[in-house]
Amino acid sequence: MMQAVFAAALLILASPLEGLANTHDNIHWSRHGQTGRRTTTTLQARNNTESPYKLEDLYRGESFLNDWEFFSDPDPTHGLVNYQTKANAVKKKLAFVQSDGTTVLAVDDFTDVPVGGNRDSVRISTKKKYNGGLFIADFWKMPHGCSVWPAYWSVGPNWPNGGEIDILEGVHEQETNSYTLHSGEGCTLSANNVRIKANVIHDRCASSGSDNRGCGFSDSDERSYGKPFNMIAGGVFAHLWNSQGIKMWFFPRGEVPADINTKKPNPDAWPTPSAFFSSKTCNMAEHFYEHSLVLDTTICGDFAGATYASAGCPGTCEQAVANTTIFKWAKWKINYIATYQLP
Ligand SMILES: *[C@@H]1O[C@H](CO)[C@@H](O)[C@H](O)[C@H]1NC(C)=O
Ligand SMILES: *[C@@H]1O[C@H](CO)[C@@H](O)[C@H](O)[C@H]1NC(C)=O
Repeated sequence: MMQAVFAAALLILASPLEGLANTHDNIHWSRHGQTGRRTTTTLQARNNTESPYKLEDLYRGESFLNDWEFFSDPDPTHGLVNYQTKANAVKKKLAFVQSDGTTVLAVDDFTDVPVGGNRDSVRISTKKKYNGGLFIADFWKMPHGCSVWPAYWSVGPNWPNGGEIDILEGVHEQETNSYTLHSGEGCTLSANNVRIKANVIHDRCASSGSDNRGCGFSDSDERSYGKPFNMIAGGVFAHLWNSQGIKMWFFPRGEVPADINTKKPNPDAWPTPSAFFSSKTCNMAEHFYEHSLVLDTTICGDFAGATYASAGCPGTCEQAVANTTIFKWAKWKINYIATYQLP
């Protein structure tokens, strides 16, 4: 579980954000350079039926309800949410499976909540723990909206020592995704670490005193988060975590490599990743272990609350919680999450 100290991390992380919803040029995690768009032709030309990986876990449909735990304590990041138990989430239809097999994890968009009150939401994490592997997450939709702060991430014990890997995270109506690591001392991004230097957010992964920003990259593809992501029926976030480091890719719908869809993934044949954290300056086994995958949506709190005013959202974050309409779009619609290991 994410420790309370993570709250401090996000507060620091959040403060330099300005003009989040209005401009993507001069904010903390500005995106420059890297060409995030990939051509369909290139990907379809590849036909990699050989995958070195073996499917380990396929989370799909009811398995998000059965093989993941529902966290129902107060939000450690101080969000204005009441995380629901499994029984209540199912009863209130905040966690359910559609007839087409899509799993929905929703924020309550049907109950009146007073200004500054808490809204019902869901946070789940895998019972199983991982020490590496290839992870493929296929989402049709993700939550977004003023005050909304969703994340798909993984975390180990004794934060930050067991590490945290943030694969998909952001706030409000931002359009590009952030990829971030948090760790104990001795893990950095350095010049020879960085494959795509142009979009580095910050290079120090370790927490030190009050500096808990973590190290990360932002995607340059303006379909990688929120509303634009949902407009194209989402896509796939893949990450490969092994002794070489951690690589993360975003594939918009329609540009997902065929080997992913056929569940025979071969990352060697994929384009340059959106983020690359090399083990040259961060020993993976030392800093990242026993991770649970986590999906959650919180509201306001340490990150979305602190950035609310500068994001171009109306009124205050506490007022946004009371506006039920906003949460119509605060839903995860999950096709599947698959994990693979080398045999
Ligand atoms: C890809 O490889 C498979 C197996 O060899 C073959 O059946 C299929 O026709 C190939 N597809 C293309 C587009 O080449
Ligand atoms: C509530 O949110 C919706 C959607 O963002 C917006 O159109 C509407 O103006 C908001 N209502 C109030 C009273 O702020």
